[in-house]
Amino acid sequence: MISTILVIGAGAMGSQIGMVCALAGYTTAVYDVDASRFGETTRDLRNRLDRRVSNGSVNAPDRDSALARLSFTTDLDTAAASADFVIEAATERLPIKRYLFAAIDKLAPAHTILATNSSGFVPSQLADATTRPDRVCNMHFFNPALVMKCVEVVRGPQTSDDTIATTVALTERLGKTPVVLDKEIPGFIANRILNAVRDEAIFLFENDIASVGAIDTACRTALGYPMGPFELMDLTGIDIGYYTKQARYTESGDLKDAPSGSVTALVERGELGRKSGIGWYAYDADGTKKPRPDFRGES
Ligand SMILES: NC(=O)c1ccc[n+]([C@@H]2O[C@H](COP(=O)([O-])OP(=O)(O)OC[C@H]3O[C@@H](n4cnc5c(N)ncnc54)[C@H](O)[C@@H]3O)[C@@H](O)[C@H]2O)c1
Repeated sequence: MISTILVIGAGAMGSQIGMVCALAGYTTAVYDVDASRFGETTRDLRNRLDRRVSNGSVNAPDRDSALARLSFTTDLDTAAASADFVIEAATERLPIKRYLFAAIDKLAPAHTILATNSSGFVPSQLADATTRPDRVCNMHFFNPALVMKCVEVVRGPQTSDDTIATTVALTERLGKTPVVLDKEIPGFIANRILNAVRDEAIFLFENDIASVGAIDTACRTALGYPMGPFELMDLTGIDIGYYTKQARYTESGDLKDAPSGSVTALVERGELGRKSGIGWYAYDADGTKKPRPDFRGES
């Protein structure tokens, strides 16, 4: 039975995944090496829950007990020792994840499943860092995790039926919709489809066919997308897609997997989207989006 969940990484994904778990009734610890943002993250989560109380989707006592069930820590030993289920959402770098999986494998109880929220790395890239490859899978949330329903549950070659069944049941308890991949593949389902659209958008931009704004507008108004591919890259962080492609390119050696020139230039300049105030678009302090004067004009 799962009663205590450990989330690794208190970033954009980990903090909200932690809140999702706490809202569903689980005692939840969120571990990070960097404690400097714990205060700001806690305030942000509280504000989000306050808005839910205001719109009637959560009542005040449930908000208070969820916040009481959620803690932030830099003490991995203690947090892992009592975890029934681990969701790893640390920085998207394979050496970091392999180091964490090996460390947690030594600290967590034998029954504990080690799931990764990685967008790019598959179970077989992490399972052999542990002594429990049958209890390793992906549990891939979407951004923002408090809102998005889909969770992709990915089976690796050594993942057991029991691990998949437990992860699917947990996903449902969290109020999410599990989508199981019976075989691992980088990018899973939704992002593979999304990436095909993004690559085509970048192709059109880099070949001077249309501006960033025009391409986003076409996706929103013709295809019914809630936001265009460039707007979405700015929201999720341009570096996330860059590192995912870089890792795939390192593995395949196929140039079509490499990050595009325009994305590489943005990442090298630290222009990563909304989080750095500039990316495909520029953002005012209040988050208002503006076209970039140094890019082709927005339609
Ligand atoms: N951002 C997205 O849209 C999105 C969506 C789905 C999945 N993901 C995946 O979620 C994971 C996290 O992404 P994010 O956007 O939250 O990143 P982020 O940069 O916002 O947060 C990553 C956190 O990991 C922490 N960290 C780094 N090394 C660590 C270590 N050794 N131990 C503990 N914590 C460590 C960092 O301090 C940081 O707080 C990645 O694997 C990414 O692929 C991201």
